[in-house]
Amino acid sequence: MTKDLKRVFLEELRSVKSMTDLSHLRVKYLGRKGIITLELRSLSSISPADRPAAGKKITSIKQFIEAEFAVVESILKREELQRELQANCIDVTLSGKFVPFGRQHPISRMLSEITDIFVTMGFGIEEGPEVESDYYNFESLNIPKDHPARDMQDTFYINDDMVLRTHTSPVQVRVMEKARPPLMIIVPGKVYRRDADITHTPMFHQIEGLMVDRGITFSNLKGVLEAFLYHLFGPDTPVRFRPSFFPFTEPSAEVDIGCILCGGDGCNVCKGSGWVEILGAGMVNPVVFENVGYDTEEFSGFAFGMGVERIAMLKYSIDDIRLFFENDIRFLRQF
Ligand code: DAH
Repeated sequence: MTKDLKRVFLEELRSVKSMTDLSHLRVKYLGRKGIITLELRSLSSISPADRPAAGKKITSIKQFIEAEFAVVESILKREELQRELQANCIDVTLSGKFVPFGRQHPISRMLSEITDIFVTMGFGIEEGPEVESDYYNFESLNIPKDHPARDMQDTFYINDDMVLRTHTSPVQVRVMEKARPPLMIIVPGKVYRRDADITHTPMFHQIEGLMVDRGITFSNLKGVLEAFLYHLFGPDTPVRFRPSFFPFTEPSAEVDIGCILCGGDGCNVCKGSGWVEILGAGMVNPVVFENVGYDTEEFSGFAFGMGVERIAMLKYSIDDIRLFFENDIRFLRQF
């Protein structure tokens, strides 16, 4: 019987596949109502003479079973650990995941390139609202109600008094209302006009500049703008100032550089003239100073404004402004 018990036990043990199977089998043999436990208890019903031998036998089977359990348990544990390690293992020979690199948008790059040059010269950076009042966008800058720049065709009106700013110039007035000269500021930002073709988008970027102090003259304007243009386009770039008109400057000028595409010989971009307009500028009109309460006898200043997309188009030889805003990765990847 005891021989059978061992054999049956070993057979059952062989089908043990997991720790759960093992603990079930342990209960079956060694539990409170287990086979071995019951055998030991039944010793009391055996005659005293046979009891020692029977006791010895069943005890040795119990020890045998316990030893087998210990062996199987240690095998199962090792297998389990092996499985766990296998499941969590990292294959260091696999190739890495490709993470595409992003980069700055060409307009953002152009903006920081331009502002960096002015910051180096000592200009501070100011910003203003894109939804602007009629007063700041036009009136305060000496652009009266009947001025062509007020044409409904050009301006996005929010209502009779509010517009999407058509230029960054209103920030000049906002800053002068709050601060006294000396002032040296540039104003980068978005502006809006109802215009759309290969050189115009309804939203584009400008950088405004303003310098006010005692004794500022047109020479200061020329010096600062020439230094800026030499930095941006190279020291051999020809620069010229042409008389022009802006309501908020007097006198006013438009600044041209020698066409960087054809070197001055004449091409599509410069329309055969050899020159391209790069920015507008002038001495701040005394009317604007009066609007912010500056003494026009004491202070003078100059202002300028430029289109960032226009400069980027020239610098990178791009012939359609809309490319900047279509977000075609093949275009953007080139910068
Ligand atoms: N605000 C003008 C425009 O959008 C550009 C400009 C011209 C700004 C002359 C100035 C300036 O400050 O002095 O066309």
